[in-house]
Amino acid sequence: EKGGFEHFMLKEIFEQPQTIFDSFRGRLDAEQHRITLSGLDAIQDRLLAARRIIIVACGTSWHAGLLAEYLIEELCRINVEVEYASEFRYRNPIVGPEDVIIAVSQSGETADTLVALENAKQQGATIFGVVNVVGSSIARMADAGAYTHAGPEIGVASTKAFTAQVIVLQLFALKLALLKGTISNDRFSKLVEGLHAVPSQVEWILTNELENIKAIAAKYKDASDFLYLGRGYNFPIALEGALKLKEISYIHAEGYPAAEMKHGPIALVDETLPVVFVATKDPYYDKIISNMQEIKARKGRLIAVVSEGDEVGATLAEDVMVVPEVDEIIAPLLSVIPLQLLSYYIGIERGVDVDKPRNLAKSVTVE
Ligand code: M6R
Repeated sequence: EKGGFEHFMLKEIFEQPQTIFDSFRGRLDAEQHRITLSGLDAIQDRLLAARRIIIVACGTSWHAGLLAEYLIEELCRINVEVEYASEFRYRNPIVGPEDVIIAVSQSGETADTLVALENAKQQGATIFGVVNVVGSSIARMADAGAYTHAGPEIGVASTKAFTAQVIVLQLFALKLALLKGTISNDRFSKLVEGLHAVPSQVEWILTNELENIKAIAAKYKDASDFLYLGRGYNFPIALEGALKLKEISYIHAEGYPAAEMKHGPIALVDETLPVVFVATKDPYYDKIISNMQEIKARKGRLIAVVSEGDEVGATLAEDVMVVPEVDEIIAPLLSVIPLQLLSYYIGIERGVDVDKPRNLAKSVTVE
């Protein structure tokens, strides 16, 4: 059942070239440069008239939601809020018929997300579900949606469900941008072609970086804390990298926007602290390099996810994990892969039951 892998988590990490492809199937046409999302068509009028989009989720799904905020605001020019379901439901939020809510959930059964949606629906909002489990409670209560098609995810730590959520939200943002006229045909076509190449690029990382990442895991396994830093589209990936490490290795980890570190967390940096930078080539690249220099000057142990061919980043960091260079909008799909593997191997090094880490449940159906 684990398909020859030692754990479901590793199997699910390795399934991603396929699950990403499955999430495209019937939706992304890279030759005709077309995206088909019937769930979006079903609520098209409400989306085009929406005052704002509110994304509601928990945990890793919330990180996919945060990425979607960046994407939808940039590509569609619609105001987006991202909410922790548990906070959103209890604080008497202002919601009405002009709002579209995107619910992101692997299980479709997370109690706080479900109740938050029910409340918003009662106040007239339209609910769009980005859900993995077909026929789950959230899928059934949504007005429309797009399934993530990642297949059953058994490992408690979400991996393939996350990348599938990101794909669906990217398709959603691109399609909506085209309908709104907020993206040029040229950029749209380039991104469609870029997405099409992702499964083979993920495969490339899994093949070329595996042994390197295992060695990095063995080297840093005894650290007591980790800091993960990123900017722009890589900021949600820094958060996700830190969450994955906490869950699977029981090492304390924090994710932060790289520039925000100067406002507090930099006080933590000394020669024992591993600092993982998500530093792929994008418009903020120079800024992140200077953040890396700041950490190095304070003797932090620099680990970085860098784009292939980036000599500067590679020289600056003590250890690097390499990913192919792609558009910044697509980059998170690649930069998350080494971080999933790093957590997995650190967890294994520390003897954690990675598929069932302590105190955690696959789906949180209590409030
Ligand atoms: O099923 P959901 O996507 O609604 O679950 C949300 C979170 O409970 C989930 O992502 C959790 O954070 C994972 N253990 C992360 O790996």
